Amino acid sequence: MDQSYKKKKIEIRNLTKKFNEKIILKNINFDLYEGESLAIIGASGSGKSVLLKNIIGLLKPEAGSIKINNVETVNLSRSKRENLLLELGITFQHGALFDSLTIWENVIFKIQRINKLSKIDGQKLALDIIKNLGLGSDILNLYPSEISGGMQKRIAIARAISSDPSILLFDEPTSGLDPVTGSVIDELIVKSVKRLCASAITITHDMASVSRIADKVILIDDQTISWTGKPNEMLKSNNAKIQQFIKALNPKLFK
Ligand SMILES: Nc1ncnc2c1ncn2[C@@H]1O[C@H](COP(=O)(O)OP(=O)(O)OP(=O)(O)O)[C@@H](O)[C@H]1O
Ligand SMILES: [Mg+2]
Repeated sequence: MDQSYKKKKIEIRNLTKKFNEKIILKNINFDLYEGESLAIIGASGSGKSVLLKNIIGLLKPEAGSIKINNVETVNLSRSKRENLLLELGITFQHGALFDSLTIWENVIFKIQRINKLSKIDGQKLALDIIKNLGLGSDILNLYPSEISGGMQKRIAIARAISSDPSILLFDEPTSGLDPVTGSVIDELIVKSVKRLCASAITITHDMASVSRIADKVILIDDQTISWTGKPNEMLKSNNAKIQQFIKALNPKLFK
């Protein structure tokens, strides 16, 4: 589809990231357009999370450009980056929630930083947000360790979308969950992207998730993007890297 009339939310050009001379990512180039949902796949250790951390500024690339809403973010001052981060909703692969805060405090954490709410208003707002994710008031005053792993993932998504961001970034939102809970989370992602008219990048190992959530897929292999296409093109592709990746995940498909 011709994307030229659509706004670019993220533009990455020639991004290179090293740790102590070890190259993790080299010459990464891609765009995320308004309303688009992108899945990033790749073997463990291929640099998917490192790429996400570069986008949000937790890591700095050795070379290349990362534009968010047309603003160059590499070398951006801390205060300007803070403003930009309000546009982003993020869930991390590990340690998604603050252990010492209750569920409602976790959910509205970002909003509290901008606009201090009373306990009652905060709980009400948190409830409004988690109700949309199929959760109820019974968990508002619990701590993350007191709810299940699937609920924790949903709360992490609730926190990410709480400030109505225009860009959502999810790192392995369904990993470690049973397939049913995984598909509920995928639905949540799809619904949230639609409701917020947002753009999304989801890192996943799960091919079923890719088909459910993504318009476009990027495979990272050998430090760079080795395949890009639509989810339904993955299985048909002759590209050796994508075949190898799908085969490793679904050996039955190739017997
Ligand atoms: N802060 C860091 N310092 C040094 N090396 C790092 C750092 N963070 C990541 N790496 C290395 O970068 C490589 C890519 O890591 P990354 O976490 O991006 O992998 P991934 O593709 O997300 O894997 P997984 O699917 O297992 O989550 C790994 O070799 C990892 O050890
Ligand atoms: Mg990772």
